[in-house]
Amino acid sequence: MPSRPPSVEGGRAPVTLTVAATRGPLLGSGAALAVPVVPRSSGAPRVGAGSEALAELGIDAVAALKAEKATGKAGEVTVIPVRRGGVDTILLAGVGDGSEPALRRAAAAIARQAKTSRSLATTLSVDRDPGTVRAIAEAFALASYRFSVNGSGQPAALKRVKLVVDDPAAVRAELGRAATVAAAVYRARDLANAPSLGKSPEWLAEQAREFGEAAGVTVTVRDVAQMAAEGFGGVLAVGQGSSRPPRFVEMTWAPEGAERHVVLVGKGITFDSGGLSLKTPDSMPAMKTDMAGGGAVIATLAALRDLDVQVKVTGLVPMAENMPGAASVRPGDVVEHYGGRTDEIVNTDAEGRVVLADALAYAVATLKPDVVVDIATLTGAARIALGSRHGALYATTPALRDELLGAAAAANERLWSMPLIDDYRDTLDSDIADLRNIGDRDKEYGGGSIVAALFLREFVGNVPWAHLDVAGPARSEADEDELTKGATGFGVRTFLRWLESLRH
Ligand code: BES
Ligand code: MN
Ligand code: ZN
Repeated sequence: MPSRPPSVEGGRAPVTLTVAATRGPLLGSGAALAVPVVPRSSGAPRVGAGSEALAELGIDAVAALKAEKATGKAGEVTVIPVRRGGVDTILLAGVGDGSEPALRRAAAAIARQAKTSRSLATTLSVDRDPGTVRAIAEAFALASYRFSVNGSGQPAALKRVKLVVDDPAAVRAELGRAATVAAAVYRARDLANAPSLGKSPEWLAEQAREFGEAAGVTVTVRDVAQMAAEGFGGVLAVGQGSSRPPRFVEMTWAPEGAERHVVLVGKGITFDSGGLSLKTPDSMPAMKTDMAGGGAVIATLAALRDLDVQVKVTGLVPMAENMPGAASVRPGDVVEHYGGRTDEIVNTDAEGRVVLADALAYAVATLKPDVVVDIATLTGAARIALGSRHGALYATTPALRDELLGAAAAANERLWSMPLIDDYRDTLDSDIADLRNIGDRDKEYGGGSIVAALFLREFVGNVPWAHLDVAGPARSEADEDELTKGATGFGVRTFLRWLESLRH
């Protein structure tokens, strides 16, 4: 009998976000009060909106900032314990140049400082447009995320944030969007942080069904028999070494009046041991998050109704556990993908492209998509090229590339456009099949993330296609700005921004 995995604390609501008017009473409104601090070209920084409240409490902010040698740069927080007037702590938060990324950084820093207070009021949001209030709210929620199994080892986290604004009615809609996006990112992080012991393909598919159906999304789950009948040879091959069989999840959001159809595809490897081409022990623990792309797609689909997305969106997540075993696919085996292309499996650790190929071919052959975008923790090479904060973006049309770069910038996720270098394509030629699943070392091109993208491109025909290799940014080694240690939910914010912006 397999041991029973501990349950994972999932779906916790993010921080409760509320708004209050500037003319209302500030004091007693929260256990912590966070006030912006603006740098000056010379001398000590000055206190921004909310300075009157500090004066009423008898706080000498200028002296405190001077004592701490504060500069006002974004992310800097000066803490003053007070315990009077309903306030236990004052946080003086640098806002740097006041740009949206700087305000997000300030909000995240405040959230981390305030976690023992549990609730907080802030004037950071005073005098900001609704879009900026949305960004600030999102940052508070994202930085307050915590993950644990069975609630153990769970440090305190901020629970309530009251944003002081000039006109609460004007920002309420944007605040709702911030809460929706943050909840979706929480969900993607929860799925990827969940240990693989409890995260079988079957379990992950059930999570997709539950979240999708609760959000007006149609969900179908294909099992092994159905995949075999329809020819999903790549997913079946990758999954055959595990005692826990693969699944293929299809989620459909079809709002009335939609004309355009976007297909999102996410890599859903619930654990990547490498298979018979086994990974090293050091590189394995992080591989519970190898379904981060699939988790991002599931979380995105489940947020579309709340964001009133007008276009039709289908999410495809091929799910498999890549394990070595008596039934594993072997190096040298040839598999037949959906639609008939054959693939020589030279290295079983290049499994992501093998499951994605089926999904891309299926999308193009049966779903009539206007555009296909996939997201995958695909190559260590992408992480080496761009580090852990930027995702690698490949696109077959400049228009799609620019839309995704724009959405990422607006959402404060970082993507870097990479080239699909045709000259490298022949490294994927196989002597015995249509393709080999890794580049031929003898050709010595390197460029592992590019070669993987070229492999995927073989399956998308003429449909505009983009590919996000997120092996770097899907995880963070530390709490930093809006990111929390472990899975980051990378891609959810970019996808939601992008889909929100599309008209019918
Ligand atoms: N899931 C890994 C990629 C990965 C590596 C993600 C590190 C996050 C951090 C992928 O399945 C893989 O193993 N790729 C191989 C490809 C190689 C065999 C061509 C890699 O990058 O080493
Ligand atoms: Mn692998
Ligand atoms: Zn993998």
